[in-house]
Amino acid sequence: MRVLEIDHPLVAHKLTVLRDKKTPSSVFRQLADELVTLLAYEATRSVAVAPSGINTPVAPTTGMKITDPQPMIVPILRAGLGMLDGLTRLIPTGEVGFLGMVRNDETLEVTTYANRLPEDLTGRQCFVLDPMLATGHTLIAAVEYLLERGAKDVTCVTLVCAPEGLKTLEESIAEDVNLTVVTAAVDDHLNERGYIVPGLGDAGDRLFG
Ligand code: PRP
Repeated sequence: MRVLEIDHPLVAHKLTVLRDKKTPSSVFRQLADELVTLLAYEATRSVAVAPSGINTPVAPTTGMKITDPQPMIVPILRAGLGMLDGLTRLIPTGEVGFLGMVRNDETLEVTTYANRLPEDLTGRQCFVLDPMLATGHTLIAAVEYLLERGAKDVTCVTLVCAPEGLKTLEESIAEDVNLTVVTAAVDDHLNERGYIVPGLGDAGDRLFG
């Protein structure tokens, strides 16, 4: 598993405002969207492209285009929805599948209440969107759903991660799986209630109230 923590002054600035408990929902939504666009630039670095012939107004030439099957973009409801536009803006040809998952705040176990993924994801590159990786249980279940359907590789785009959750994710997914986590920050630790510290609070509540 590869972890890419994006080191960029704009990412650092936007994340700092996002973390601030005084930041209202309207600004939080805007910042989450902007952060995803910045992270997506790195997250899509390995997207599959192939030579493609075109004619410019001046001359024929060969460029590069994203190959079929188009990438699969999977926001995890609810909070992942706040990251969807940021990625589809960069890959408008991507197909979107949905996973609805919720964590029990007492037991920290995850329940899947919606699954709208294609049955066959053979050979597909998948991008999973979820602002937070805390214990890692949500992303482990999401990655497993995608791999069961034949996904070729999986990139998880998150805003903040706990080191404990990253370790659990790495230990839970087979070593030969091409799995990448792209994040704005790996935070200090996970507290006894399963919250990322310093984190940004409950992203779903801050996005949608
Ligand atoms: C949050 C967050 C992740 C999950 C992370 O969702 O958006 O999906 O918790 O926790 P984990 O790594 O410990 O599994 P939540 O369950 O609060 O649902 P919501 O997005 O509907 O608010």
